[in-house]
Amino acid sequence: LHVAVLMGGLSSEREVSLSSGKGCADALEGQVARVSRVDAGRDLAQVLAELKPDVVLNALHGEWGEDGCVQGILETLAIPYTHSGVLASALTMDKDKTKSILKAAGVAVPGGGLFDRHEVARRHVIPPPYIIKPNAEGSSVGVYLVPEGANGPQAEVGSDAWTYGDLVMVEPYIPGRELAVAVIGEATGPRALTVTDITPVKGFYDYEAKYAPGGSIHRLPADIPARVFEAALRESERAHAALGCRGVSRSDFRYDDVKDVLVLLEVNTQPGMTPTSLVPEQAAHLGMSYHDLVRWMVEDASC
Ligand code: DAL
Ligand code: MG
Repeated sequence: LHVAVLMGGLSSEREVSLSSGKGCADALEGQVARVSRVDAGRDLAQVLAELKPDVVLNALHGEWGEDGCVQGILETLAIPYTHSGVLASALTMDKDKTKSILKAAGVAVPGGGLFDRHEVARRHVIPPPYIIKPNAEGSSVGVYLVPEGANGPQAEVGSDAWTYGDLVMVEPYIPGRELAVAVIGEATGPRALTVTDITPVKGFYDYEAKYAPGGSIHRLPADIPARVFEAALRESERAHAALGCRGVSRSDFRYDDVKDVLVLLEVNTQPGMTPTSLVPEQAAHLGMSYHDLVRWMVEDASC
């Protein structure tokens, strides 16, 4: 079997993807006949047409690799690929549309919505504390927490340096715990792995807390009431199904342990496979090594 591992790419999460891709490609060496490491660029269709892999392991994150575009190229070339298809990828990359679908499926999501970034830079569009984030980025790139009692709004969102779209997501900040659940399988039969409780060493679960070794403490299984644990498993399966995901996804939650409210923030269709990432850690906790997980992904690939 010849597997092409797509990594790098054109998004703000390029470095994260290079790390995910290296992990996956290294794990496949010796498990399959041939591994090709492909830094995905604008010439991807041509590169794959010439390379003719049996399967693509998509280790891209963010714009273009996670939003249905690359999935469309793979459908067109009829090469089986890992993770979600075109529609689920495109939908899930859009945080606002994802929230609409989850709400319709009966999954609790944060309030707030999309606002013009210039307005967000001028005034508090909702009372602090709140979170500002791009509608279609990952790894907490471009995310700001405006704390309670903040004097002014977040000016950087209105600056010329902002490259994450003119509509930004503004949501009330939910105090409490950060939880994550990996789900594997088809939309028709998803299986949630376990719940991880994440404590960033400082501030919130931002880019540094996600990828700097020791940037956050992961507790799994999460030390939360059994009823909430069970709800997080079932809600992430429901989200995976409602969005039509395939292969592996990861749902991220906030749990307000004072008000006892569990809210699903977003679903990631190309979750990280880096040394600090949550999905491989959950799989390992259940006895599935990183090697096993990557092999399962390749065996599960389709188009
Ligand atoms: N966007 C990053 C890679 C994640 O969800 O893990
Ligand atoms: Mg994300």
